Amino acid sequence: MPSSKRRISYYYDSDVGTSYYAPNHPMKPHRLSMTHSLVLSYRLHESLEVFRPRKSSASELTQFHAEDYVNFLSKITPNTQHEHLQQMQKFNLGEDCPIFDGLFDFCKIYTGGSIDGAVRINHGISDIAINWSGGLHHAKKSEASGFCYINDIVLATLELLKYHARVVYIDIDIHHGDGVEEAFYLTDRVMTVSFHKFGDLFFPGTGDIGDIGLNDGKYYSVNVPLHDGMDDHNFVDIFNTTMQKVMEMYQPGAIILQCGADSLAADRLGCFNLTLEGHASCVAFMKSFNVPLLVLGGGGYIKSNVARCWANETATLLGKILDENIPEHEFYYEYYSDASYKLKVQQKSPIENLNSRTYLQDIKRCVLENLSQLRIAPSVQMQEIPPEAYLPELDELELIVEEKVSGIGNKSSENPIEFYDKERY
Ligand code: CO
Repeated sequence: MPSSKRRISYYYDSDVGTSYYAPNHPMKPHRLSMTHSLVLSYRLHESLEVFRPRKSSASELTQFHAEDYVNFLSKITPNTQHEHLQQMQKFNLGEDCPIFDGLFDFCKIYTGGSIDGAVRINHGISDIAINWSGGLHHAKKSEASGFCYINDIVLATLELLKYHARVVYIDIDIHHGDGVEEAFYLTDRVMTVSFHKFGDLFFPGTGDIGDIGLNDGKYYSVNVPLHDGMDDHNFVDIFNTTMQKVMEMYQPGAIILQCGADSLAADRLGCFNLTLEGHASCVAFMKSFNVPLLVLGGGGYIKSNVARCWANETATLLGKILDENIPEHEFYYEYYSDASYKLKVQQKSPIENLNSRTYLQDIKRCVLENLSQLRIAPSVQMQEIPPEAYLPELDELELIVEEKVSGIGNKSSENPIEFYDKERY
C-alpha cells in the first residue's frame, strides 16, 4: 500500500485542551487545542479519520495502576486535597502533579485516545493512530510523576500485546521514558528505546546506557543518554542507526512512538537544538517500516512550537509537506508571531553541543553491541502473555496472537506487576 494511503485515525477532545494544571505550571494542555486548530487550518483533517476518544473506565486504568491510587484520583478535588495530605504525598501529588478541576476526566480522555488507537490497530482498521494528548511516560503504577498521572502508554502497550507478540516503544521526549521502561523491564515482549538528556541531575535521573533490562528482559531496554545541545544531524544519525538495528533484530508487530516536543530547540525545560525537520524525520523513519504505528505526544513547553511540531508530524504521517506560512486561524496573531508566522522553531541562541564525536561514537557502539546480543525476533511463549488481570472483557474480540503459542496454562514467571512489587526505586 502506498505510504501516503495508509489509514490514519486521529483522536482529539476539546475537553483536554481546556484543562488547566496551575498558574506558572509549565504543562499547558491548551497546546493541544492549538495543535488541533493548526491541523484544521492546514486542512489535514480531510485526510484523517477524526475521533473523539472514549473515556477510559477506572477498571481499565487498573489494568496497570494500583486500585487505591486510581480510586484516590477519581475522588480528590482541589477543595478536598488539603484534607488528604498523607495520601497526596504517598501518590506524589501536589507541586509537579497538581490536583486541578476535571483531573480524572482529563486522565480518562487522554488514556482513552491511546487505548482506542491501539484497539483500531489491533483490529487492522487503522494502520496509524495519532493521539497528541497521550504520551505521559513518567506515570508509575502507584504514583504520579513529572506532570503525568496515568500512564496511557503502558495501557496502550498492554492492549497491543493482546494481538502482537512483540511491541517496540520509542521515546524522543527529552526526558527518559522511565515509567514505560520500568513497567516492561523484565519482559522481552516489549522493547523500550529512549533517547534523552542524561546527567546533571536532569529529570528523572534514570536512563543510563547500562540500564538494559533484567532477567527475560535483559537487552530489551535500550537507553541512549545524550548531553545538552544535540543537533538534527547527530540525533537523526543515532536514532536511525539504533532503530534500523532494533527493527532488524526484534521485528515488532506494532510500534508506539512518543513524540515529546521538549527535545526541540528553545524549549522551556529542554536543552537540545532539534528543528521541526529533525524531530519529524524520526517519525518519517519509523513510518517507513510499514509496521502498525501508534503515535503519541508527551512533553513540550513552548505552546506554539508544540503545535507546530505535532501538526507538522501529522502531515509527515500523511505523506504531506506543509506550507511554511502558517494559515490564518484563531490562534494565528496571538501565538505565531514568535517565528514570523512561519512553520519553524525560532531559537535565539543555540545551546552549545556538548556531545563530542567520540562520545556519540562510543554510545552508538555500545547500543549496537547490546542489540547484537538479542535473539532475533523472539516468539511468544504462552507464559509470557499477560495474565488474565490485564485482559478486560473481550466479548466481541477474539484473542489472537500473531504467532503460534505453546505451553498453554504455564504459570506466568515474570510480569510488570510482579516487578513492581520488588520496588526497584
Ligand atoms: Co519531557
